[in-house]
Amino acid sequence: MRGFDRGARSWYARPAMSPPPDTLLGSSIKEVLFTAEDIAAKVQELGRGLTEHYRGRRPLVVGILTGCFPFIADLVRAMDIELEVDFMSVSSYGAGTKSSGVVRFLKDLDQPIEGRDVLLVEDIIDTGLTLKYLTEALHTRKPASIQICALLDKQAGRTQNVEVQWRGFDCPDAFVVGYGLDYSGAYRNLPYVGVLDPSVYKGE
Ligand code: PRP
Repeated sequence: MRGFDRGARSWYARPAMSPPPDTLLGSSIKEVLFTAEDIAAKVQELGRGLTEHYRGRRPLVVGILTGCFPFIADLVRAMDIELEVDFMSVSSYGAGTKSSGVVRFLKDLDQPIEGRDVLLVEDIIDTGLTLKYLTEALHTRKPASIQICALLDKQAGRTQNVEVQWRGFDCPDAFVVGYGLDYSGAYRNLPYVGVLDPSVYKGE
């Protein structure tokens, strides 16, 4: 659902951008936005905050597949409380790269959430359509609370008003991959987040 069509502009100048490591996958990356070390430090910071917030409450931490998988794995290990983990998988209706704003559940939660504290974990929030739809759908199940934790917040893409209580980094308006984020299914296994070299997707 991420807007592939918005990948070209480069208004965002982050001084710390660095060249990618000299690796096979790194050769497709134009620049590194957030190193593995940046991410690890941010995850620890988020984990400390979430630990304080949910202390004594046993939240249900819900990963939105597929891109969430490295983030949620690291995040829950940074939370020093009892918690449970579940996953949802959604897919947008609509053709091409633009979301229609309606999502369909490919995998629902395995359990009821009435009275539970739910933390939705996303790799990235872009238009906000996915999380807007999901939170509205989940609120009908009467949870005690729903909060959102997103590693990357691409505010330039936002079309929906979604409250993100826990965010890692502001994300530039570029096509980013790595640490769960993909291009055509690949690059999820990069240990850092980087900007994909346009030569990889030109000509599509
Ligand atoms: C990405 C991301 C969010 C969604 C955000 O998922 O993981 O779920 O897009 O975009 P939005 O705010 O514009 O709705 P994607 O559909 O790429 O699936 P994936 O997680 O399987 O890569």
